[in-house]
Amino acid sequence: MAIIHHYMAAAKMLLTATLALSGAQAAAIQKRASSGYNDFDCKPSAAHPRPVILIHGTACTSVSWIALYPKLVKEGYCVFAPDYGQYTIPFIGGTGPINESAVQVGKFAEKVLRATGATQADFVGHSQGGLIARYWSLFLGGEGKIGATVGIAATTHGTTLSGFTTLLHETGTDKAARPVTDLIVPSLAQQSEYLDFYDKLNAKGDSLPNVRQFNIATRTDLVVTPTENAFQYDNPDTVNVILQDLCPADLSGHAALLISPVVHRWVMNQLDPSNAKDIDCRGSLILPV
Ligand SMILES: *[C@@H]1O[C@H](CO)[C@@H](O)[C@H](O)[C@H]1NC(C)=O
Repeated sequence: MAIIHHYMAAAKMLLTATLALSGAQAAAIQKRASSGYNDFDCKPSAAHPRPVILIHGTACTSVSWIALYPKLVKEGYCVFAPDYGQYTIPFIGGTGPINESAVQVGKFAEKVLRATGATQADFVGHSQGGLIARYWSLFLGGEGKIGATVGIAATTHGTTLSGFTTLLHETGTDKAARPVTDLIVPSLAQQSEYLDFYDKLNAKGDSLPNVRQFNIATRTDLVVTPTENAFQYDNPDTVNVILQDLCPADLSGHAALLISPVVHRWVMNQLDPSNAKDIDCRGSLILPV
């Protein structure tokens, strides 16, 4: 049974990659989708002075935000979403080494700040995308340039991949397998909670001072496990929420969080607390992927 579960988790990762589409098709869709975001002529309004930067996760692209970004644009935000971390697989992002992805995202964020004239941006990140702004702030000059971070199933403390990386770790195969995974998806091994990436990232704690930090995670997540690995604990003001505590019948899994109306409402409430609206659980999804 346990083995089947591990294969399921690996299959889920593949499914996520497939959902992100492949090759030229992804590029074409991306081109069309990005007509609504990455408008570098956008000028932030007084109501929303900070541009919002959406950061996709592992084996995804900015198309991840196809359901959320129109809602933010409609609310009057300047919305940006980089494509970063392409490595061996063409067009599919978030696969390269995270430290190098953070350099790319940091450059993108600087460009957004210059274009909009804003001094800070707010960041919404899915999965791996949920830790990149913090990496930029800690190691790459982004300090003070972040208003808020909103993590959606962020890999803040890595993942056991539903026990898969635990299995590799306990059998001593994780270090042995690393040259292979590093060839194709270096970011994958970096997000194993057993390998060294987090020693550096979380050395001074898992939070940033003077940044409003919010996290949402789901019990049905098979990619970021355990669920609480998505949370930040070292700043008492950080808000950590389990989706099922908002809407108990919501079964959204790791990828479904991106299209969940409940998650979208919650994210927008964190970005603009003074205009927060009630969460409507009728929008709950029963999509445990
Ligand atoms: C990223 O980390 C790898 C492995 O630690 C290192 O070899 C590489 O030079 C780093 N790249 C950057 C841009 O920091």
